[in-house]
Amino acid sequence: MSTIDTQAAPAVKLPPAPRIPKALQGAAFAICRRELMHRMACRYGDAFQLNAPVFGRVVVVANPQLAKQVFTASAAVLGNIQPNLSRLLGAGSVFALDGDDHRQRRRLLAPPFHGQSIKNYETIIEEETLREIAGWPECKTFPTLPSTMRITLNAILRAVFGAEGAELDELRRILPPWVTAGSRLAVLPKPSRSYGRYSPWGRLAAWRRSYDVVLDKLIANERADPNFENRTDVLALMLRSAYEDGSAMSRNDIGDELLTLLAAGHETTAATLAWAFERLSRHPDILAALVTEADTQDNELRQAAILEVQRSRTVIDATGRHVYAPVFELGEWGIPRGYSIIVSISRLHADAEIFPEPDRFDPQRFIGSKPPSFAWIPFGGGARRCVGAVFANMEMDVVLRTVLRHFAIDTTTAPGENYHSRGVAYTPKDGGKVVVRRR
Ligand code: HEM
Repeated sequence: MSTIDTQAAPAVKLPPAPRIPKALQGAAFAICRRELMHRMACRYGDAFQLNAPVFGRVVVVANPQLAKQVFTASAAVLGNIQPNLSRLLGAGSVFALDGDDHRQRRRLLAPPFHGQSIKNYETIIEEETLREIAGWPECKTFPTLPSTMRITLNAILRAVFGAEGAELDELRRILPPWVTAGSRLAVLPKPSRSYGRYSPWGRLAAWRRSYDVVLDKLIANERADPNFENRTDVLALMLRSAYEDGSAMSRNDIGDELLTLLAAGHETTAATLAWAFERLSRHPDILAALVTEADTQDNELRQAAILEVQRSRTVIDATGRHVYAPVFELGEWGIPRGYSIIVSISRLHADAEIFPEPDRFDPQRFIGSKPPSFAWIPFGGGARRCVGAVFANMEMDVVLRTVLRHFAIDTTTAPGENYHSRGVAYTPKDGGKVVVRRR
């Protein structure tokens, strides 16, 4: 008797779609993504469709069970969202990889971002913070974002690129405008024909050429270093590392990946830190308790405050996957191949059932309890969860500790700063303004 496969493929069943013209949806997505998602979630609930520029047909989800299904689906079923940041960073970036290639690259990237390697970078972060805050003005309002951007840029250039001296200066000059332009272009359609030298895409290509020249010098310097075998920067680890089959990472892949780590890690961490200053200056009791703690070796409250800043002022509001299966069963829905699924991180963080009074800034939520999986997801989830999460957490902890040890931050009753989109990341609109005095 022959066996008959009785398991039918799930049927296509799409969640509700807004009755707004496609062009208007596209414009709203490009200009005010956060607000659009918020309004749609209020109106349609945990899952709805959108027609987004760059990504096309999209299903947005804003519920932990659905997020879990998305993050834990196999790579054959859901791949990275298309297009993604590899359009800017190159085919050698981890963003470009799926399936086995992605798994192998993540294995290669894991060691520098865990355990002892992270400890090694703490000194660099503290040095960079001290250097930056030495120039902070006293008794005068100033935005912290430019400072946190410099700290996180220098930290990555030293810890990840291993850059020093002339190369460090050159990268400091080339990369900030590249990241700013790249972040804006990431959410816009790429022109299909060749672009002029002075167009934004043309300028991006020119910066990339300058970057490649500096990177070749850095690689040559590292290889010539008699201490090469003991170097702890990520570039040295990449140069020394090997895939499971013994092959090494190619020069182009190293270039794309270092740029990826910088683009993904610099603005995100800086924006979160600026939000931390914005939040703490509006919460005197929490600030006072953090100052007391900063003078000790403890960091329980600081860690809880960081988690709460990341929950309540989420800098990457969404992440996504692309459907490769004929139909992906997602809760009661069946999403067909070719669609993208976007997990709305900021909507999940505002879920009142999981985070009561979600608008209240309250680090106590995280004292003595771990953040709930698939509901607290500032770093995304599953096999593509942020590679730099531990690094970013350590960096924010060290920067906050160092600032609180050296400066008293004035508190204010001013309303909270609004969100400002830099393209990929959301920063405080006025740059996380504070007034400080030396302690
Ligand atoms: C507060 C700071 C940061 C935030 C909020 C953040 C957030 C995120 C998010 C939401 C994703 C997408 C995850 C997903 O799709 O499931 C991601 C991916 C990634 N992040 Fe971060 N990130 C931060 C810092 C960093 C740092 C410091 C680095 C490296 C030095 C880094 C490197 C990456 C890379 C390489 C990926 C791509 C992972 C993959 O596709 O496998 N990030 N990050």
